[in-house]
Amino acid sequence: MKLFIKKPIAQLMAATAETADSLKRTLGPVSLVALGIGAIIGAGIFVRTASAAGEHAGPAVTISFLIAAAGCALAGLCYAEFASMIPIAGSAYTYSYATMGEFIAWIIGWDLVLEYALGAATVSIGWSQYFNEALYTFTNVHIPYAWSHGPWEVSNTTTGMYAAELGSHGIINLPAILILFLLSLLLIRGTAESAGVNNVIVIVKVAIVLLIIGLGWQFINPANHTPYLIPADAGQVKVSTGVIDYGATFNHGWLGVLRGASVVFFAFIGFDAVSTAAQEAKNPQKDMPKGILISLVICTALYILFAHVLTGLVSYKEFLIQGKEASVTYAIKAAMGPSYTWLASLVTISILAGFSSVILVMLMGQTRVFYTMSTDGLIPKIFSKLHPKFRTPYKSQWLFFVFVSLFAGFIPDRIVGDMVSIGTLFAFVLVCLGIFILRKTDPNLVRPFKTPIYQVVCPLGAAICLCMIASEGLENWLRLIGWLLIGFIIYFGYSVKRSHVRHGKVEGATDPINPKFVE
Ligand code: ALA
Repeated sequence: MKLFIKKPIAQLMAATAETADSLKRTLGPVSLVALGIGAIIGAGIFVRTASAAGEHAGPAVTISFLIAAAGCALAGLCYAEFASMIPIAGSAYTYSYATMGEFIAWIIGWDLVLEYALGAATVSIGWSQYFNEALYTFTNVHIPYAWSHGPWEVSNTTTGMYAAELGSHGIINLPAILILFLLSLLLIRGTAESAGVNNVIVIVKVAIVLLIIGLGWQFINPANHTPYLIPADAGQVKVSTGVIDYGATFNHGWLGVLRGASVVFFAFIGFDAVSTAAQEAKNPQKDMPKGILISLVICTALYILFAHVLTGLVSYKEFLIQGKEASVTYAIKAAMGPSYTWLASLVTISILAGFSSVILVMLMGQTRVFYTMSTDGLIPKIFSKLHPKFRTPYKSQWLFFVFVSLFAGFIPDRIVGDMVSIGTLFAFVLVCLGIFILRKTDPNLVRPFKTPIYQVVCPLGAAICLCMIASEGLENWLRLIGWLLIGFIIYFGYSVKRSHVRHGKVEGATDPINPKFVE
């Protein structure tokens, strides 16, 4: 059945030779770290911190960040080994095709849709919340609840802009679809953000996080941090999507902290973007692992401090109702008073810019992975069809605009975000196990970067990620299984018959996408 047929590394190198020449090796370790942080900081910290604290972990969401970071750091080391073996632009899909074979590559590529496409959907829903907040702050009008929420959401707050719409049902999240549309258009035109713009956005994002930590610290109310873990008898809260029962297994105590880790894990997604820039790195073998790990360490420190301040400003339960949306702006306004309204406004605007850059990177990453899978014959050619003028995969971009909009427009961010986390965690487990197995089966592969004490790092990384997956519960497991089953049907029904590697076709395609897109 040739399930584990591998793509020859030489062929991979040859296929990108042209772009390898045209892409300048300009990125040193500092730019790589900036790229990592640019892709990492987004809705995870500014939206999911509050929901993890409110629903599962309380103030101990700081510990959830530590658990998620541990899983990411260990998987990150494996990722770095993986990426350094094949120092060309690509994703986990590309690396696994050359090292672990087609079937694993397919699963990872298919799984990356959850990470990238649904990741873009989740961040666009967060964008919509902050967009409405900005609109309301600056113009006193807002998009009605029904048109800025999906059909499973019901307005249940008696304060803020939606107060008069208590009980309103959502219909469609139009602002989320709008930002996806604008960014898809931008990507089709080929106006990708340059490294310069990226650096500015990174500075803004980090500055905002530091500002909130610095200014908010003095407003921490110790009562909000006591008790630190949610007690089992914390009661029930009625929310727009049902009831949160703190007595439930994963809604209090240490198991709540673990479940919180799977929620805030979203905040770390994107560090692997560093590995996709290998082609532009001055010294990929040395700088890529550095770029991945340093960006992880910096983000973890920022996240923990930020979460400490956020949960100190208001009680975690407020993040279920009044502070459910645009949670950071809410907490600043509620705890720091009118003299800090400027900070709330600044945060809102910066978050809009920051989220846009994350959505852009994710939408782009998605079409690039599918572009490669399409040139490999595993999915239809439409995904590698380039625009005659802009040389961008415009049809794929439009198809993904529709696909992502279906989630962003109609599904609650909690559900989409959980699907992103579980899908990415699953890919990490495969990478950790894959590196372990490769060390045994192919000990002679050239490995410029080697995961230290892999006998411990690989299984431990996989175990931590599996624990987070376990905490996500039956519904999320079924969603992941359903997604993988669809993938298997396509693989066995379509891909095996057309795979270029299986059928000995020489891959002629180089990487004609605008080199600016390689990030
Ligand atoms: N880590 C990215 C974010 O938090 C996906 O938005």
